[in-house]
Amino acid sequence: MALLGVNIDLVATVRQARATDEPDPVWAAAEAELGGADGITFHLREDRRHVNDRDARLLRQTVGVKLNMEMSIAPEIVGIACELTPTQATLVPERREELTTEGGLDVREHRERITEVIARLHDVGVIVSAFIEPVPDQIEASAAAGFDAVELWTGGYAHAKSAAEVESALSTLSRAVETGTRAGLEVHGGHGLTYRNVAQVAAVPGFIEFNIGHSIVSRAMFVGIREAVRSMKQLLERHAPSEMSV
Ligand code: PXP
Repeated sequence: MALLGVNIDLVATVRQARATDEPDPVWAAAEAELGGADGITFHLREDRRHVNDRDARLLRQTVGVKLNMEMSIAPEIVGIACELTPTQATLVPERREELTTEGGLDVREHRERITEVIARLHDVGVIVSAFIEPVPDQIEASAAAGFDAVELWTGGYAHAKSAAEVESALSTLSRAVETGTRAGLEVHGGHGLTYRNVAQVAAVPGFIEFNIGHSIVSRAMFVGIREAVRSMKQLLERHAPSEMSV
């Protein structure tokens, strides 16, 4: 069964809506851990629109499970990550005008800078993952650049409208997992996964980890974070591929 990383950015977004000190994403992380999260994911954006430096520092001090920092390759953020030393850094593209991270990193285009960032993070013992689209070109470029893992953008599946589009997106993901695994990468998935759509992706053999944020935090408004995380874990477990198919 794949591990569940809970993205707590949205909790900080609610706090920032009033520029106050609640709800605290650090509390959310502790609650997620109590609900069975295998990891906590946060994105320290250059514009600090949700998670800020104080949150990042406290998360590093308090999170007892895997801590995954989503980050751009901007020099300031790379410097912070090297000091913070989360368990894992997931390199993502970042645009000011987007609502959330849209699409994947172009590993080939930014190869030189990315290779440098991977080396710096490896030097301080951080596992490095690339958030990419599930296409062979980017997977191969990620392996060649020295990434340990890739997180495949599952938005193509999540946004699919018809049954045919869903099928096609699932087979794209499935082939991408195979390609990544064969290239020696640990394969993760994330973006747009919800209680309604996670089952079919959870059933794809080979995924090691899913990072899920918006849907879990949304449900948490009604049932609390612990229960919301517990329910998502149950879905991942119920729909996990059998050992034989992995
Ligand atoms: N993975 C990455 C790399 C992301 O940028 C995000 C969104 O912040 C997620 C996973 C979680 O996506 P969602 O909030 O749609 O579950």
